[in-house]
Amino acid sequence: MNDAHVNANVNANVNANRKPASAMLTIRNLNAWYGESHVLQGIDLDVKAGECITLLGRNGAGRTSTLRAILGLVGKRTGSIQVAGTETIGMPPHRIARLGLGYCPEERGIYASLTAEENLLLLPKVGNAGMSLEQIYGMFPNLKERASSPGTRLSGGEQQMLAMARILRTGANLLLLDEITEGLAPVIVQKLGQVIRELKARGFTMVLVEQNFRFAKHLADRHYVIEHGQVVEVIERNEVEAKQDRLNELLGI
Ligand SMILES: Nc1ncnc2c1ncn2[C@@H]1O[C@H](COP(=O)(O)OP(=O)(O)O)[C@@H](O)[C@H]1O
Ligand SMILES: [Mg+2]
Repeated sequence: MNDAHVNANVNANVNANRKPASAMLTIRNLNAWYGESHVLQGIDLDVKAGECITLLGRNGAGRTSTLRAILGLVGKRTGSIQVAGTETIGMPPHRIARLGLGYCPEERGIYASLTAEENLLLLPKVGNAGMSLEQIYGMFPNLKERASSPGTRLSGGEQQMLAMARILRTGANLLLLDEITEGLAPVIVQKLGQVIRELKARGFTMVLVEQNFRFAKHLADRHYVIEHGQVVEVIERNEVEAKQDRLNELLGI
């Protein structure tokens, strides 16, 4: 064995000891259509296990469509979307979800005629390690108080907490969260920030679509700015200050 081989082996061992985080979501050249409408045009995106990233952009940029494309909920999609190393581009939505995906849609999807707890128990399991009701109520004490209230009686904030809590029960470990702070009072937004931090500490991987950059910038490891169905800027957490002007320009804030 020559020196180069020896060095390569030593480096491999060092890297193995460091346990680099594994890839949870790897997207390459994702294109997606609703009918004739070509809404995503070559998205690339990388999320490692345990990371939190955001999709930022103006209304109509393609952020929700990116989440829906990951879930297989668009008309047609091409390219590559790997979830924890498994290629999903040819899979139907129910099989993709079972790889451990949880989706919190913008419209929240709380059933008005069911109680809070019935809503909480509604979604099918997609993984083994879902949180118990007890753990969930520990994280969202308000929901425990409101357990038997019908969905219609919940405030916007309570509905959002419920929509989040519901996917934690399913065992999902990759959470796709669409504009969870939209229309909510500052105190609720703050609470959601705490929830995101706690989920990160528990090892969840998260993709946040956000309009509220002040909320997102303290939570995310990296930001992807989307415009016309393309990623136009990738900004690491430690670059946010330096690129603030560019961000303001892109987001129109
Ligand atoms: N169901 C749909 N059918 C056709 N076009 C859609 C549909 N949903 C969204 N679009 C279009 O796709 C583009 C991206 O929308 P969307 O992903 O919802 O943007 P964002 O979430 O960033 O505001 C927009 O031009 C929007 O009009
Ligand atoms: Mg949207």
